[in-house]
Amino acid sequence: MDRDLFIPILLGTTRKGRESENVARFVHGLLEARDGIETQFFDARDFDLPHDHYGMEIKDRFPEWRDAIIRADGLVLVVPEYNRSIPGVAKAIMDLLLEEYIHKAIGLVSVSAGGWGGVRVVESMLSMIRELGLVATFTDLNFPKVADKFDDDGRLTAEIYHRLGDEFLTELIWMATTLRWGRENLPSKYHSK
Ligand SMILES: Cc1cc2nc3c(=O)[nH]c(=O)nc-3n(C[C@H](O)[C@H](O)[C@H](O)COP(=O)(O)O)c2cc1C
Repeated sequence: MDRDLFIPILLGTTRKGRESENVARFVHGLLEARDGIETQFFDARDFDLPHDHYGMEIKDRFPEWRDAIIRADGLVLVVPEYNRSIPGVAKAIMDLLLEEYIHKAIGLVSVSAGGWGGVRVVESMLSMIRELGLVATFTDLNFPKVADKFDDDGRLTAEIYHRLGDEFLTELIWMATTLRWGRENLPSKYHSK
């Protein structure tokens, strides 16, 4: 590979007091620590989503996100489980783009207050991910009982997540690398070589 993989990360909730921010900052730190990876942090709070329009027609109002996904080889999506599903704001951000996602890898990080770790939000997202042309890894990173895993300053206290996070990223990087090779070397109506 002659250039770094580009893997941005999206924190997918705007809720005041959100625990998912600690998770997203931790995973972003792991990405930054990896050799050969460039990353960029996106926060749902920074998207000024309109109330009178929606979807791909307004993507040019979000040029930083649009251009990042055009350039991306993969994406990390950090989402809390809200009523077993994806927060509306995260869905609205993902829905801004379509062909820009095709044949790129996505790693899913779920967050919940309960004991299931957000596995239900992950399952609920898979049909959306397929429609977007993204390719999900099979190793998610789940944070059940999230409040117990960080201290008051937002630092991780559950040491095991250093290993789990590394395994999660290793798989995502493998998938992102493989798909980049495919996009750049194999004919597809979705990519100009
Ligand atoms: C609207 C709403 C719905 C929720 N639904 C669920 C749920 O279905 N399952 C669950 O485990 N936790 C649920 N929670 C709790 C979140 O898991 C909890 O807030 C956790 O800290 C992660 O979300 P946060 O980043 O907003 O803090 C819900 C929270 C909100 C605000």
